[in-house]
Amino acid sequence: MSEADRLPILADRLRAVARRFGTPLMATDVTGLATAAGTLAAAFPEPCLRQYSVKANDVPAIVGRLGELGLGANVVSRGEWSIARRAGIPNSRITLEGIGKTPADLRAVVRAAEHGDPILWTAVESADEAAALGRLAARAVRRDTPRLDVLLRFNPAVEPETLPGLAVGSGSSKFGLANDELAAAIEAGGGPQGGLRWRGIQIHVGSQLGAVDAWRDGVRRALAIVGLLSGSLPDFDTLDVGGGFPVFDVDTPAPRPERFARELRLLLQALPDDRRPARLAVEPGRFLVARSGFLIATVLHVRDRNGPMVVLDAGMTELIRPALYGARHGVVALTSDRRPWLAPEPAGGLRLTAVEGPICESTDSLGQHALPPLVRGDLVAIRDAGAYGASLGSTYNGRPRAPQVLLEPDGSFSLARRRGGGLTIN
Ligand SMILES: Cc1ncc(COP(=O)(O)O)c(C=O)c1O
Repeated sequence: MSEADRLPILADRLRAVARRFGTPLMATDVTGLATAAGTLAAAFPEPCLRQYSVKANDVPAIVGRLGELGLGANVVSRGEWSIARRAGIPNSRITLEGIGKTPADLRAVVRAAEHGDPILWTAVESADEAAALGRLAARAVRRDTPRLDVLLRFNPAVEPETLPGLAVGSGSSKFGLANDELAAAIEAGGGPQGGLRWRGIQIHVGSQLGAVDAWRDGVRRALAIVGLLSGSLPDFDTLDVGGGFPVFDVDTPAPRPERFARELRLLLQALPDDRRPARLAVEPGRFLVARSGFLIATVLHVRDRNGPMVVLDAGMTELIRPALYGARHGVVALTSDRRPWLAPEPAGGLRLTAVEGPICESTDSLGQHALPPLVRGDLVAIRDAGAYGASLGSTYNGRPRAPQVLLEPDGSFSLARRRGGGLTIN
């Protein structure tokens, strides 16, 4: 069986947890998390830092499992920072980035440093943000706090091979500093001698990258900047190449992390020794958690609309990606006519069925899928739902958040978040 397709062997357990906790329900295969983390570590071994992008799935138990598997945490707010801490990840393995950092977020970064427990770095987005953080840091330095490590979030202005909504590394996107804005950001942050210690460049070319070309271009541009700026900034030694490693349908070929790693290696080999960054980092989200997550739903209605149509009890409130940017997720039956399906593997008898969500929005649709006959009460699993599902969920239409269940490697399961549970910030 391929590394990717654990659904057939998990089907009995998915039916069991759906019976126990009801639907909609998110189930995470812990073995799958470990497999993904192992693949990533093989592609980007130490000393490369592997920072899990918490935004992809912020369930603390899942963040914690990834921490145990050697991942640090890449966070975008005090909320995610607090989740990472609750998950057992120390500040020394936490990095902060994000376009929406608030003054309170920046103050928290400085406060952690003043308490002698700084985070690894903050990636600054703009000259405005550099100035704000620089002022706070300079004050702290006057009180004997060490300078704060920062990266510059660089917009590589490439054309990422992904959905437009995920192409954050394109020049017209709102993210990061353009090439000609970098020097002004350093100046605004206090220059080479201020409260900020300029450590390097962070990029994120885009999410769910369908090819490596734009990524390679982005990394090449970032490497050129590291080489250039390290001439005037003595500590400028870091390149964080972001995330973006894709997870497509099990049958769709996609570049794997090792392919991206090979491109990086080739680019580094082409540089003279003194131009190579001493420290490398990746910060993937989706690749680590998408495939292990199954959103389990029950069929509420069966209709004929020029072919079969089913309406599920899970939709855009649990998994907004299809409605938000047209993402496609596989849907498979766990039961057909109320009897177990998938095991043994079915032969034939599938019909193209429109699969719809329960929300009062017509964009709440999962598209057409080849499915066996379904009746009210049948169970289906929506695949690859572990990334940008729970963390992007909402309570729209008065719907409590779905429970999160971990399927443990020993065959047991644990409830990681009860129905209606959510985020609390320490
Ligand atoms: C800066 C940054 N890093 C990493 C990620 C994680 O991306 P992915 O889940 O595609 O690996 C994102 C996602 O939006 C991001 O914006």
